[in-house]
Amino acid sequence: MTEQAQGLGPASDDSSAEESAGASSDVDWEALRHRAVELMERAYAPYSHFRVGVAGLVDDGRVVAGCNVENAAYGVALCAECGMVSELHATGGGRLTHVFCVGGDGQALMPCGRCRQLLWENGGPDCLLMTPEGVLPMSAVLPQAFGRADLDAAEG
Ligand code: THU
Repeated sequence: MTEQAQGLGPASDDSSAEESAGASSDVDWEALRHRAVELMERAYAPYSHFRVGVAGLVDDGRVVAGCNVENAAYGVALCAECGMVSELHATGGGRLTHVFCVGGDGQALMPCGRCRQLLWENGGPDCLLMTPEGVLPMSAVLPQAFGRADLDAAEG
């Protein structure tokens, strides 16, 4: 189902620039949470029993989502964000502008450190994340982040 069909999109067609800038006022966070909950319910977490779902709005209006997928070799577990980022690239790429990650209770869950790095790579400092303390930019939840700029600087 397309993001537009789910009613998650910007309120008007001329808000795309604002979306890219990371504005959140015209984004239906509850619809994004609903999609994350749908994914959480599909999590494969027979070892931890800790189910996670995540949904992200892309700068072209798509919604991508993922759930955690565990493995008998515990360390091979895939976080929900891994699946979401894979869908992002598999369906055309783009930049994440808004992300809602939920735990088994359907409430906002802070992504683990590794997954904050994934969100940083694919959304950057202005990507907005729903947290238990409200909406925060990635620059606040992953301060002084390592990123592409560090590699570019080292190359001179
Ligand atoms: N998990 C996620 O999917 N995302 C996070 O950001 C935190 C942790 C999963 C991994 C594992 O399957 C379970 O939660 C318990 O750590």
